[in-house]
Amino acid sequence: MANNHRRDILPNAFVLMICLGIANSLYTIPLRIYQGKFNFTLDVDLTPLKTFQEPVSGLSLASDPAGIVNFLNMVNNLQGDSGRGYYMEMILGTPGQKLNILVDTGSSNFAVAAAAHPFITHFFNTALSSTYQSTGRAVGVKYTQGKWEGELGTDQVLITGIPSSLTINIAGILSSEGFFLPGVNWQGILGLAYPLLAQPDSSVEPFFNSVVRQTGIPDVFSLQMCGAGLSASTTADPAGGSLVMGGVEPTLYSGSVWYTPIKEEWYYQVEVLKLEVGDQNLNLDCKEYNTDKAMVDSGTTLLRLPVKVFNAVVETISRTSLIQDFSSGFWGGTKLACWLKGETPWRFFPKLSIYLRATNASQSFKITILPQLYIQPITDVDGTLDCFRFGISSSANGLVIGATVMEGFYVVFDRAEKRVGFAVSKCAVNGGITVSEISGPFSSADVASDCAAGGLLRDPLLWVVSYALMAVCATVLLILILILVLPCRRRDRSGEITDESSLVRHRIK
Ligand SMILES: *[C@@H]1O[C@H](CO)[C@@H](O)[C@H](O)[C@H]1NC(C)=O
Repeated sequence: MANNHRRDILPNAFVLMICLGIANSLYTIPLRIYQGKFNFTLDVDLTPLKTFQEPVSGLSLASDPAGIVNFLNMVNNLQGDSGRGYYMEMILGTPGQKLNILVDTGSSNFAVAAAAHPFITHFFNTALSSTYQSTGRAVGVKYTQGKWEGELGTDQVLITGIPSSLTINIAGILSSEGFFLPGVNWQGILGLAYPLLAQPDSSVEPFFNSVVRQTGIPDVFSLQMCGAGLSASTTADPAGGSLVMGGVEPTLYSGSVWYTPIKEEWYYQVEVLKLEVGDQNLNLDCKEYNTDKAMVDSGTTLLRLPVKVFNAVVETISRTSLIQDFSSGFWGGTKLACWLKGETPWRFFPKLSIYLRATNASQSFKITILPQLYIQPITDVDGTLDCFRFGISSSANGLVIGATVMEGFYVVFDRAEKRVGFAVSKCAVNGGITVSEISGPFSSADVASDCAAGGLLRDPLLWVVSYALMAVCATVLLILILILVLPCRRRDRSGEITDESSLVRHRIK
């Protein structure tokens, strides 16, 4: 989940707004820019403002699946859409209370509403669960535009496909701001990333770590999100999806699974080597694609690109799309582009390819999305127009492969082998066309051997820490120099010592 936007909930009032403005008449493309203010701040964007903790050691890896889980029972266990996120039903406590939980590979706490909130229909009532145990420990997560606070506890959790109930750390959300949004149909969040991101610290075992430890299933889960080409604003018929725990379900993808190494185990951080718009390589230094990190995050709505990369992508798309008069509001996400109904605009736009480092470091593979995935239908404005938004946004905190891209692929989070796999998803089909592609291998000889140099240290928070440390060192050094130099000058005047550096060396000795 990314930082600049929150989930996409399109107000119903939206439909009533009028679509003004006409497109570029030099081209015969019937583009109209929606002039109303598009509420961009409502996208799912739950990337936590992270804090750094020591990694926990000794994750016990399970080896024997032994038929404990039934993958097929997990197929179609998700509902949702790219805008408001994908969620699964879970049963918490004794007797069981049903809740819908957002699936988020960009955070590491299992947190559920434990008190009423105007935007949610129900919450987990811990007082009614005989198995709930409070730890009395406070917990909270801050996002760029919102936060929640609550209390840590443990309870029994049942999920489809795993027959026995599990004992799970639960953060009960008692107060929040900007976390639950109008129209969301979930009441909690399932953070599937690594313990390093868990709050208040990495000793709070994340949900999936607990599942693996308690059931012995392999340390792998995979995710298929099926909203490709569907309007992100329809509530009536939410798209489906699958979260498969313990492995890979072959019926969900076609072709083969291509794997990229996980660079650091906190977010699912991967290494992006290259971007192409149509056939054109953006040709940026590959480090630009990984500033300050690149990750795979189901809790972020859009494909988010570092500013420099974003600008290059927009420039190249507008040059190749034949549509030159796009309002900058469209690219910036505040305006929609509308076409006459049935006049789908996708043929005017290029494909977009992201090259990822292959497990053989001297090779790469590319995942490609068709415009059907990044020019996203929103709603019909007045019955005669179809409106679309740009599914890519700029980011100040890294490249995020969010739902926009993930909807094209079956994504395998193979923690046991420290790699993320991509395969063409069987549900990434729109109007009979498969909207994603994968190909490889390509030689990576033309890019640096490490495009993500710095790893965790590229995290802004750690930069703050390192700058603080540097400041402390500088101060100490300054005091030292003053102590050393002042007497030196006195001696200098007396003609004893003239070489300051040798003075420092002597003194330090
Ligand atoms: C890795 O890729 C290089 C370049 O394509 C190839 O020469 C080499 O044999 C590969 N190594 C393995 C172990 O497959």
